[in-house]
Amino acid sequence: MMEALLKVENIQTYIGQYHILQGVSFEVQKGEVTVLLGRNGAGKTTTLRSIMGLTPSLHGKVYYQQKEIQSLPTYKISGLGIGYVPEDQGIFGQLTVEENLKVAMKQQDEETKKRMEWVLNLFPDLKKFWKKQGGLLSGGQKQMLSIARAYLNNNQLLLIDEPSKGLAPIVVEKVMESIQEMKKQTTIVLVEQNFIMASAIGDRFYIIDDGKTAYSGKMHDLKEDEQLKRKYLGIA
Ligand SMILES: Nc1ncnc2c1ncn2[C@@H]1O[C@H](COP(=O)(O)OP(=O)(O)OP(=O)(O)O)[C@@H](O)[C@H]1O
Ligand SMILES: [Mg+2]
Repeated sequence: MMEALLKVENIQTYIGQYHILQGVSFEVQKGEVTVLLGRNGAGKTTTLRSIMGLTPSLHGKVYYQQKEIQSLPTYKISGLGIGYVPEDQGIFGQLTVEENLKVAMKQQDEETKKRMEWVLNLFPDLKKFWKKQGGLLSGGQKQMLSIARAYLNNNQLLLIDEPSKGLAPIVVEKVMESIQEMKKQTTIVLVEQNFIMASAIGDRFYIIDDGKTAYSGKMHDLKEDEQLKRKYLGIA
């Protein structure tokens, strides 16, 4: 078995007095899309934030490329090559598409230029609205800008939080295709409640329930498991 690119081992996270994560564990294999599923409030966003050191875990370990990172500050974690696309996208509303991308760029070498070209081909809308302010983009375009920004910086791993949220089905499809395309270049942890999207691009899944990893397996098997879907995801 290949060593996991990311390994989350029994992390426990408090927010204020609340014990939010009570034992989340999962592994991410290089080149795969690992999907975190679970109901609203299960702890999916907190899991990604804990990996990034935004809400650091109090117990447990996070390994990235076999090195412990759970005690590092966020800028160091991000500097290791982990890109984060938050739930609320976090783009600058006053800056144009071009400026949003330039502000995010940590280098301007050949590699980054190539990545910029690749990502603009993937999201032609960004090229089209190059001079438009981020705040004036549609929900789907904002999502694309946010993903593009995280991709630019030679990241080996992208953590993407619910990219389909609030988007029309046709736009969801577009975002899904782009993540599928992105998968050829990078490893992805995807939080996604849209099961159609999750099952179309995920290789493995982990279900987070009430702050704990409750179930895991190959995405292929979950598709057939109506009982499990009903129990943890409220769908069937
Ligand atoms: N700042 C906070 N203060 C108190 N509780 C919080 C805070 N942030 C999150 N929580 C709680 O932690 C739990 C997990 O939240 P989290 O955002 O991780 O869930 P989620 O699985 O991402 O949900 P959703 O699918 O709705 O995005 C929830 O019960 C939430 O209310
Ligand atoms: Mg969330």
